[in-house]
Parts: sequence; C-alpha cells; structure tokens
Amino acid sequence: VISHFEAKRLTGRKVVLTAGPTFEAIDPVRGITNSSSGKMGYALARACAQAGAEVVLVSGPVALPVPYGVTRISVQSALAMREAVTAAIDDADVFIGVAAVADYRPATPAEHKIKKSGDAMSIALTPNPDILAEVAARPNPPFCVGFAAESRDLDTYAEGKRRNKRLPMVVGNLVQDGLGQDDNQVVIYDEAGRHPVPRAAKDNLARSIVKHLADLLSAR
Ligand code: CTP
Ligand code: CA
Repeated sequence: VISHFEAKRLTGRKVVLTAGPTFEAIDPVRGITNSSSGKMGYALARACAQAGAEVVLVSGPVALPVPYGVTRISVQSALAMREAVTAAIDDADVFIGVAAVADYRPATPAEHKIKKSGDAMSIALTPNPDILAEVAARPNPPFCVGFAAESRDLDTYAEGKRRNKRLPMVVGNLVQDGLGQDDNQVVIYDEAGRHPVPRAAKDNLARSIVKHLADLLSAR
C-alpha cells in the first residue's frame, strides 16, 4: 500500500533531484540535447515524496506531469540546472542526480537564427559544470546518489564514477536495458559492493532505490 511505503522512512528529510535531459541552445531555434525521457527521475521523485520527504525536482524539458507532493523547477540548460540546484541544496539531506546533463554546450550561442550556406560548418563547444560532482564536493555535503547509464563495462564505469565523484551510492544501468522504457534493470554500487536489482517497472525500481538509500542514510 502506497501510504505505508516503507513506513515513511524519509520523513523530515529534504531531497533534491535532477531529471530529464538538458537543452543547450545553438541559436534561438536550435540546440543540442541528450536522450532522456525523465521517467526514472520522476519515478524517484514520486517515491521520495511517498516515503515522506520534502522533494524538489529540478527538471530539464520532458513531457511528464509533476508527481503528487513534489515541487518541480523547470529548466533548459545545464547552467540553469546548476543554478536551481544551488538555490535548493543548502538544507537538503539527499541529492540524487538523475539528469542526463549535456557534457558540453555551444561556446557562443547565436543571437539570431543561423542561415544555411551550403558549406560544411562546425560548432565550438565548451564543457558544462558537473553538477553532481560540485554538490558532492561541498563541505558537509548531502547524501549524494549518482546515476550511470553506460553502453558497456557497467561495473567498471559505474564504480569508477562513484569513486571519482566521491559518492556513497551510484545506480548503474546499461542504456540498451532501459532508455525510454517503462521498466529497467539496474545495479546499485556502494561502499559494500554491488547489489543487482531485478528488472522491474520504474516505479517499483524507484522504491527499491529509495529503500537502499534510506538504509544507508540512517546508518550514517
Ligand atoms: N552529472 C551532472 N552534471 C554533469 C554531468 C553528469 O550532475 N555535467 C551527473 C548525472 O546526473 C549522473 C552522473 O553525474 O548522476 C553521471 O553522469 P554521466 O553522464 O553518466 O557521467 P559523466 O561523469 O558525465 O561521464 P561520461 O558522460 O563521460 O560517461
Ligand atoms: Ca556525461
């Protein structure tokens, strides 16, 4: 029963999440983005709210309704996502980075629509900040959870991200297993090792992930 979800194990906690893709403008009518439906991030936001948390969901452009009990802040670019996270993070107990943040953005977006010339063209890109790594590097950071969507070598890359970004927990999946679908198969990585979670609908998966993080959080 939803109202009994894990005996409200996040009551009194504030959770900030990022979800969806970011969109980086090239000109007023074009941009570059990542593939992300936002479904996993939204399912997690809903699961956190059902577990009793105060939830702020910083979301890139997706076609999903706001989950019940969740405050959504809509953004487009990685820089705007970082600004919204910074504004919400000070009193947060948990940060979950689910967004597929664009690693690069056009260095100088054009003010007006770029006209075609028929010639080849290239766009100079500049790196975006790593929002999750920045939050994890704060003094007294919230409990930080990362996501790693990989196309191969999941264990190596996901555990590598957990160590490099100094995260207590990473959720990894192979993109061919879940992208855009309603279900997914993931592995949770933490200090104790790897914990495969059986394939399930994203809502059930979200509850398993929240249960795992709440257990680690209360053990801190
Ligand atoms: N992330 C972030 N800000 C970025 C890039 C990534 O907050 N600019 C977060 C994602 O939300 C995710 C985690 O970092 O929780 C891992 O993202 P991913 O793209 O898999 O890893 P990267 O560190 O960007 O490495 P790469 O894309 O090269 O695999
Ligand atoms: Ca990336």
